Amino acid sequence: MQISTLPLFSLFSAVVWSHSDHATTDTANSVQLWQPELGASYQVVLSLEVTIDSTNPTISPSVGIFEIDVFKHEAPTIALMHSLGKKVVCYFSAATAEENRPDYKDFLPQDFGEALVDWKGENYVNISSDSVWVIMQRRIKQASDKGCDAIEPDNTVEKLAREARSYNMSMGVKNCQEILPDVSHLVQFAINEECAYNETSCLPYANFTNPPPSSGMVPKPVFHVEYVNYTAPSSSDSLGAEITNDFWPGIGSRGVLAKLCLTQQMVGNATMAETLKFSTVIKVLGLDGWMMDCQGVVSNTATKD
Ligand SMILES: *[C@@H]1O[C@H](CO)[C@@H](O)[C@H](O)[C@H]1NC(C)=O
Ligand SMILES: *[C@@H]1O[C@H](CO)[C@@H](O)[C@H](O)[C@H]1NC(C)=O
Ligand SMILES: *[C@@H]1O[C@H](CO)[C@@H](O)[C@H](O)[C@H]1NC(C)=O
Ligand SMILES: *[C@@H]1O[C@H](CO)[C@@H](O)[C@H](O)[C@H]1NC(C)=O
Ligand SMILES: *[C@@H]1O[C@H](CO)[C@@H](O)[C@H](O)[C@H]1NC(C)=O
Ligand SMILES: *[C@@H]1O[C@H](CO)[C@@H](O)[C@H](O)[C@H]1NC(C)=O
Repeated sequence: MQISTLPLFSLFSAVVWSHSDHATTDTANSVQLWQPELGASYQVVLSLEVTIDSTNPTISPSVGIFEIDVFKHEAPTIALMHSLGKKVVCYFSAATAEENRPDYKDFLPQDFGEALVDWKGENYVNISSDSVWVIMQRRIKQASDKGCDAIEPDNTVEKLAREARSYNMSMGVKNCQEILPDVSHLVQFAINEECAYNETSCLPYANFTNPPPSSGMVPKPVFHVEYVNYTAPSSSDSLGAEITNDFWPGIGSRGVLAKLCLTQQMVGNATMAETLKFSTVIKVLGLDGWMMDCQGVVSNTATKD
């Protein structure tokens, strides 16, 4: 599955929300929302609950940003993450109803749309409906109440960003490269899944991470997720795990890592990795505690069901 079917919401904070009717104004400059740094390292765990021992709090890996499922976590865990110096991006679906969520019963029958093919028990909902918007407002407020620093949705960016900002939370935009130029000024970061399969689909982020000076935008990070299957390392000079990706059979773990981390594809005389400055994590599709970074180092974030 693609994370894109599960829009993420990240919440930001702003001391003042000042309206701008000039579409190209970078709102990240005019309000005091959390702006993650370009190239910031991160981890994403969506299928499980991250666990932290409150008597001796630690968390692995030593990255600055964790993205987690808002429904699966409570305020004390997020407070512990903050006490460890982490920023927390809270995921929830902005455009679907999932039957295992506590607010599922709040959706009206007439607001249900198509079922998601790959996700049993999940349906698209009519995001133009006022009753769906009330549910999404509650999800944003829940993220704020739990202490999230940011949320992460996939559409209705403007409406959601305004709502998040009213809680002093940041927001990111997921995938949707085609609307990026129109929404860059509204968000503080982007999330991309799997653009490495088709390198031209990574290039639209060039102006997001390296904005032309004339644009008035600040550089903003792209949290880039690529998927693999993994097994234990086969020799002492292996990466932290042997990794495979069905799209590139037979090129070895280092070959797969180079493809996913964009370290070989050239843009002019620089590599795509150097040009785009993505924050890349290598994950399994289940988005559990396992991750590999672009140096091949493997980490496991402690989790429970
Ligand atoms: C809003 O968030 C920013 C960045 O995290 C923080 O510096 C500021 O104190 C927050 N403002 C309020 C009113 O909470
Ligand atoms: C979605 O909701 C809006 C607002 O209530 C309505 O105008 C529209 O017809 C609905 N769309 C569908 C496909 O039901
Ligand atoms: C790659 O992505 C670009 C831009 O999104 C698109 O125009 C093109 O059709 C894609 N190519 C393939 C082979 O999918
Ligand atoms: C980046 O911005 C420049 C100047 O506005 C524009 O010419 C260029 O097409 C943009 N590049 C991408 C990849 O959007
Ligand atoms: C992982 O393995 C499964 C089962 O063979 C396969 O369907 C999937 O495409 C593989 N994932 C990747 C990223 O290659
Ligand atoms: C290649 O690199 C050189 C030296 O860093 C630089 O001056 C030149 O502009 C680059 N050429 C292109 C096409 O990016």
